[in-house]
Amino acid sequence: MESPFNSDILKGKVALLTGGGSGIGFEISSEFGKHGALVAIMGRRKHVLDSAVATLQSQGIRAIGLEGDVRKQDDAIRVLESTIKHFGRLDILVNAAAGNFLVSAEDLSPNGFRTVMDIDSVGTFTMCHEALKYLKKGGQGRSPSSGGMILNISATLHYTASWYQIHVSAAKAAVDSITRSLALEWGTDYDIRVNGIAPGPIEDTAGMNKLAPEEIKSKAEEYMPLYKVGEKWDIAMAALYLASDAGW
Ligand code: HXC
Repeated sequence: MESPFNSDILKGKVALLTGGGSGIGFEISSEFGKHGALVAIMGRRKHVLDSAVATLQSQGIRAIGLEGDVRKQDDAIRVLESTIKHFGRLDILVNAAAGNFLVSAEDLSPNGFRTVMDIDSVGTFTMCHEALKYLKKGGQGRSPSSGGMILNISATLHYTASWYQIHVSAAKAAVDSITRSLALEWGTDYDIRVNGIAPGPIEDTAGMNKLAPEEIKSKAEEYMPLYKVGEKWDIAMAALYLASDAGW
C-alpha cells in the first residue's frame, strides 16, 4: 500500500525501537525509515536483528541492529549509548518489545508472571528512564527548546478480561499507566511527548500466531465492524502520525 504521508516527514530524525526486528516493531521501523528516519533496532536474537537490518538496508534505510534485553538496565544503557554514538542523537523511542504465551492463571508460575511484567512493563520503564537524558529539551544533540518523543505499544486485553492472558493483561495495563504518568511528568518538565498505541488483534504477528490464530481470527472478524482483523500497517501509520510534527 502507498503511504498517505510525504516521504520526508521524519527526515533526519533518529528512532530507537525495542522489539524492532519483528512483528509490529519491524513494520514501524520500516515505515519510519521509508519516511526519512535513521533507525536503530534493539532485540535479543542476533539472527532476527541481522535479517531485519538487511531488509531495512535493502529498502535504502539507514539502519543498525543492537543486541540487548530490555530486562537488563546495562543493556538499555549500552544500546542507547551506541545509538547516540552511531547517529548523534535520539528523537524517538518506541517500546515494542513484549513477551507472551497462553497459560491459565492456575498453571502460570509467579516467575512466569514476573517474566512478562519484566519484559513489557519494567522494560518499558527502564528504556524510558535511561533515554530521558537524550530526549529532554537540551539533551545531547537536541535544541534547548524541544524534546523528543516516546511511543509505547500496549494492547486491549486488559480493557475487559482475556482468557489465559492474566500476565500480559497486567503487564499491558501497567504500560498504559506508565504512558500516562510520563506524558504528565515529562511533557510538563521536559517537552517530551509520550504516547501509546493499543493494538487489538493484528494479523501476521507472533502474538496472533501464539494465541490460537484461527479461533481468534474468525471470532474477531465477526465482531469487527470491517469484518477483518488489524494489519501491522494500520499501527505503523498511527505511529508515523504520532512521531511526525503533525503529532505535536
Ligand atoms: C507457562 C511459561 C511458558 C508457557 C515460559 N513460561 N513460557 N509458563 N507456559 N508457554 C514461564 C517459565 O516456566 C518460567 O517460569 C518463566 O516463564 C520464564 O521462562 P523462560 O523460558 O526462562 O523465559 P525467557 O527465556 O526469558 O522467555 C520469555 C518468554 C518468551 C516471554 C517466555 O516466550 C518470549 O519472550 N517470547 C517472544 C516474544 C513474544 O512472544 N512476542 C509477542 C508478544 S505479543 P518458572 O517458574 O518455570 O521458572 C503481545 C501482544 C498481545 O504482547 C496482544 C495480542 C492480542
